[in-house]
Amino acid sequence: MTFLLKRARILDPSQKLDMVGDILLKDGKIAEIGEDLFHRMAEAHEVLDCAGLTAAPGLVDMHVHLRDPGLTYKEDLFSACRAAAAGGVTSLLAMPNTRPPMDEPDMVRELLERADANVYTCACVTKGMKGESLTDFAALKAAGAIALSDDGVPVGSARLLLEALEKAPGLGLTICVHCEDLDLAKGGLMHKGAVSEKLGVPGIPRAAEDCGTARELAAAASIGAPIHICHVSTRGSAELIRDYKRRGLPVTAETCPHYLLLTHEALGGRDADFRMNPPLRTEDDRRALIEALKDGVVDAVSTDHAPHSPKEKADFLAAPNGSIGMETSLCAALTALEGELTLMEILEKMSTAPARILGIPGGTLAAGAPADVVLFDPQGHWTVDPEKLHGKSRNTPFKGMTLRGRVLATFCRGRKVFDDR
Ligand code: DOR
Ligand code: ZN
Repeated sequence: MTFLLKRARILDPSQKLDMVGDILLKDGKIAEIGEDLFHRMAEAHEVLDCAGLTAAPGLVDMHVHLRDPGLTYKEDLFSACRAAAAGGVTSLLAMPNTRPPMDEPDMVRELLERADANVYTCACVTKGMKGESLTDFAALKAAGAIALSDDGVPVGSARLLLEALEKAPGLGLTICVHCEDLDLAKGGLMHKGAVSEKLGVPGIPRAAEDCGTARELAAAASIGAPIHICHVSTRGSAELIRDYKRRGLPVTAETCPHYLLLTHEALGGRDADFRMNPPLRTEDDRRALIEALKDGVVDAVSTDHAPHSPKEKADFLAAPNGSIGMETSLCAALTALEGELTLMEILEKMSTAPARILGIPGGTLAAGAPADVVLFDPQGHWTVDPEKLHGKSRNTPFKGMTLRGRVLATFCRGRKVFDDR
């Protein structure tokens, strides 16, 4: 199918392009962008009138728990891709804490064979994510993994982390780390502070994350290795990253929309949909993360999309950590960052930057690039109804909230994968 998007506001952070015009999507690629592509109208199977709407590179979500294989009652490859499409996400990086963990080349191959071209996966840093021995990085890379992580937990041994950081760059693998001191976090269910005290619930101190971040950064810096810090939630972590970046070290970092829009106050109603790890923090942390996005300390916004079934989430104290996010990410970010970052800057954090960090195509509307495009109304609004979302699980922390912006259509490699116009 060939699509002509007419009269859109075209925003492409990769080329700093901000214009009103047309985009032709043909043979799975961005064929042409111009002020008026009237002369190419006859080629299009469908012409979309995009007046008042914004067209941008499809989002690249570099932190997604697909749950496939093994936990497919929570989500699977296809339900996750539906949720992605509905949120304007056209490329995603899957986390390897599946059942069993994604630590063998055959598992990587099996997932990628079933998947669309824009599904990428991490493999585990350590076998079984147990922190005892490294996986076979070269074989996992050959099978198609593009990054390594033990996300869900930190790499269990600093010695193995250092070894991994030594080996991965030569193979072109990005190391994505979940920063947490497990001893400090032990038993905690939410941010340790006024709300946890009021509820009488054991807390996770900021130090659990900050000490973890310090370890990972120190290990990487000692050998000058690139490292990517996942889901930053504290002011302390942001400041550590700022410090390492100032020293010129190749560190990148992401945060998630829920840390930008919500705080631990959201847990007052004892609802486990607001429990994730790292946890929602304080207003001061939230402000620090926005500042860190502004000054480039935090490079990317990812979702940490972590589906869990309603049954698992029913009990506030016993529920597993995690919240879904792909379908709400753009609009939650637009809501949280209104007046803080420009639309161009927000899109850069959600498409161009993560594509660059991972070294994958996407995050651009340059001619010849894959036709991965999100079409949205930045002035639109919608109220999040968990029952109407497109994935398998319902655990959104934005339920009932009215978010700014509305995704109207998503194109992935030139196919229209979502249309809500
Ligand atoms: O909240 C979280 N959920 N944090 C993690 O690190 C793992 C994730 C999951 O897999 O559910
Ligand atoms: Zn994590």
